[in-house]
Amino acid sequence: MKIILKNIEKKGYLPDINSYMREGGYKALKNALHMKPEGILSEIKKSKLVGRGGAAFPTGLKWEFTYKTKDFPKYVVCNADEGEPGTFKDRLILEKDPHLLIEAMVICGFTIGAEEGFIYIRGEYFKGYEVLQKAIDEACRHNFLGRNILGSKFSFKISLYKGAGAYVCGEETALLDSLEGKKGQSRVKPPFPTFVGFNNKPTVLNNVETFANIPEIILKGGERFSRIGSSFSPGTKLYCLSGDINNPGIHEIPMNVSLQDLLERYGGGVRGSLKGVLPGGVSSGLLTPRDLDITMDYPGVQKAGSMLGSGAVIVINDKHCMVDLAEKCVEFFDYESCGKCTPCREGTKRAKEILINIAQGKGELGDIALLKELQEIMFDTSRCGLGQAALNAVRSALEKFYDEFEDHILRKKCKFGVCPIGKDI
Ligand SMILES: Cc1cc2nc3c(=O)[nH]c(=O)nc-3n(C[C@H](O)[C@H](O)[C@H](O)COP(=O)(O)O)c2cc1C
Ligand code: SF4
Repeated sequence: MKIILKNIEKKGYLPDINSYMREGGYKALKNALHMKPEGILSEIKKSKLVGRGGAAFPTGLKWEFTYKTKDFPKYVVCNADEGEPGTFKDRLILEKDPHLLIEAMVICGFTIGAEEGFIYIRGEYFKGYEVLQKAIDEACRHNFLGRNILGSKFSFKISLYKGAGAYVCGEETALLDSLEGKKGQSRVKPPFPTFVGFNNKPTVLNNVETFANIPEIILKGGERFSRIGSSFSPGTKLYCLSGDINNPGIHEIPMNVSLQDLLERYGGGVRGSLKGVLPGGVSSGLLTPRDLDITMDYPGVQKAGSMLGSGAVIVINDKHCMVDLAEKCVEFFDYESCGKCTPCREGTKRAKEILINIAQGKGELGDIALLKELQEIMFDTSRCGLGQAALNAVRSALEKFYDEFEDHILRKKCKFGVCPIGKDI
């Protein structure tokens, strides 16, 4: 069952407007323009679509909040920053089926009463930027964008904005500050962007993949969508498989797939023997072979003590040392921390120092308690999701692979020969 990749996977499909229209593209917009905003909202709520950017917030509710707000102008923003290590799904849509995103954003604008939208695209996505700009120009020429769209009273335009390479700018409020030309740092929430967003005006901000589901919901109805895959988070998901897996890449699968099936049937099996899985990139906690029967939807992964996030499924075989993995994850967050709040700015630094010490064989048992305490404090007190999630992988590695930390600390040994025991790094 394909919703998002149904065009892309067709032989000879091109990212131009003719290919898109040949496959029925922009019919959903035509239908939507004949519907009432309340009718569109009702279909999206019925679909039970939740955001694919990480937080899994119900999309219909988000749109409804902004629709009901009587503050103008309103805005539509697409989060195409895609910075989570291991995530590369939005890029495929941007480069191969840009009109799917454009059509969805126009429908969103019509529904909530916005006349302007922005796509905030990751700075390194050069090709995606070019393809999107061309697609926006095509959509304008066909009057799917611009003034009085298809003879209606509704006008809408979309502009592209390039990020400058900061992971934190994927966080919605940091993204909005960056889009406004400020330094990309998170805002305190509430208020949420649905009420106080771009230029402090009501804004619907969604991930690329979330938007890509909208035309299908309008065309086939929310009820039908809600029956696909998992009853808790219906629809398909673009899972990004990477790491020690035979068939890495993007797999679109209904969200009732088990971890076992995802790795075996779709991923072609693990290379080597499975040791762990980070199901939502380096921000998520580790799963182990004991979790193979879990359902890979949002509640299923959460019940197993982790999070699905954007679906960056990183597979780890038994050749890897978990001390090394924990240290590499923290290094990333230390580098990307924006420094605005103390728990994250200082916590990532201290955690990195402690883990480097352990990896060098200079650690003490007390370091483990210190790491656990740091994780709890950062989770409870960091200002945004970056700091809150920064030590998730560390926490789970300590819980599930404690013996490896003990080996490094007590026996000064890395049985995988990966860590620089006795050396400075
Ligand atoms: C540090 C951090 C980075 C994030 N990066 C992204 C990103 O690259 N793309 C994305 O869509 N959401 C990202 N998010 C989630 C967004 O804040 C937001 O929840 C999402 O874009 C909302 O869209 P959705 O409801 O369609 O998921 C990030 C969150 C955090 C805390
Ligand atoms: S948690 Fe980290 S990234 Fe977020 S505001 Fe604080 S310092 Fe910045």
